[in-house]
Amino acid sequence: MTDIHIRSLAKSYGSKSIIDCLELDVAEGEFLTLLGPSGCGKTTTLRMIAGLEKPTGGTIRFGDRIVASPDQNVFVAPESRNLGMVFQSYALWPHMTVFDNVAYPLRMRRAAKRDIAQKVQDALRLVGLADYADRSVSMLSGGQQQRVSVARAVSAHPGLLLFDEPLSNLDAKLRASMRTELRALQQRLGITAVYVTHDQLEALAMSDRVLVMNKGEVMQIGTPADIFRQPRNRFVADFVGFENLLTGTVEQYGPDSCAIRMNGGQALKAKGGEPRAVGETVCVALRASRVALTAATSADRAANDFDATIEAVAFLGDTQQFNLSCLGQTVVATVPVAELGRAGLAEARPGDSAVVHLSPDEVIVTAA
Ligand SMILES: Nc1ncnc2c1ncn2[C@@H]1O[C@H](COP(=O)(O)OP(=O)(O)O)[C@@H](O)[C@H]1O
Ligand SMILES: [Mg+2]
Repeated sequence: MTDIHIRSLAKSYGSKSIIDCLELDVAEGEFLTLLGPSGCGKTTTLRMIAGLEKPTGGTIRFGDRIVASPDQNVFVAPESRNLGMVFQSYALWPHMTVFDNVAYPLRMRRAAKRDIAQKVQDALRLVGLADYADRSVSMLSGGQQQRVSVARAVSAHPGLLLFDEPLSNLDAKLRASMRTELRALQQRLGITAVYVTHDQLEALAMSDRVLVMNKGEVMQIGTPADIFRQPRNRFVADFVGFENLLTGTVEQYGPDSCAIRMNGGQALKAKGGEPRAVGETVCVALRASRVALTAATSADRAANDFDATIEAVAFLGDTQQFNLSCLGQTVVATVPVAELGRAGLAEARPGDSAVVHLSPDEVIVTAA
């Protein structure tokens, strides 16, 4: 099993900087995902780990062994890094059989013929294709081809598996089942994995830790629960699906709670979290599903209750979505259809008044 240590990693093409000073440690047996929008530098980072791309600065170490360091003039070729890679495009040889595709890295390493046959069969069994060895890969479905490329990646028993958006070409249902399958396989083999995706659900479902990237920079590294519940800034909150990103100013900060003055002038109580300076402009992130909403039946308002006007109502199946004018901004709330009656919202129409109730625990304060 490989542990990876990346220090001050940089990559530029001419004067264009793609990755600037990336720091990352991946533990033995860990499943780490690079998550970010298209063009943020995920593939470039993965290809530098693989040895398919040379860094322009910094070092990459596998355990004690430096595999890339332009300063020290070290560069270890991909075939000497003991890793397997799975690409979005599968990258199989269409004119070869399943067996020959999976055997390829073993032949590259000049393994003995009997050993190759055994390892190919083992790898095919792992991905459920034991009976497909003699088929031509061009006769297989997309999902089966992706399984062949996974078998090829693990056939030589590498210490590290690298995945670049391996499920993006599959339909939604197959993607969901392959997600579970890949994670189970990685755990069973205990191989360290670095996985690239732009799909937040995939990242959260599969990973031990997630690194959120934007424009070649690390926005946040943490467990899926950290990233989902406690995004560090507006970009991460937006990327992991917080529908409401409001703006306010810190009025008071304490480790357990803080007070925010919203742009509309209202005071909002929020969870403590990371230290903030009084007067700092912050982003207040709220999940639409955590914005409690009721009809405005009385004038009583508790702390963190805010008057709202319904601007639009949309039926989403299990829930109903309300776009509200509230806190001087637009706030989106989703209410389960089964709770509409109790909330007095069964007949709610645009123009009606309502009240938004925010539990301080659901109000996430992040960097603006
Ligand atoms: N060979 C290259 N020459 C110049 N720019 C490149 C090259 N390869 C990638 N880039 C640029 O690097 C940036 C990051 O690309 P990439 O790592 O593929 O992003 P991602 O995988 O996150 O979508 C993009 O702006 C891309 O245009
Ligand atoms: Mg990419």
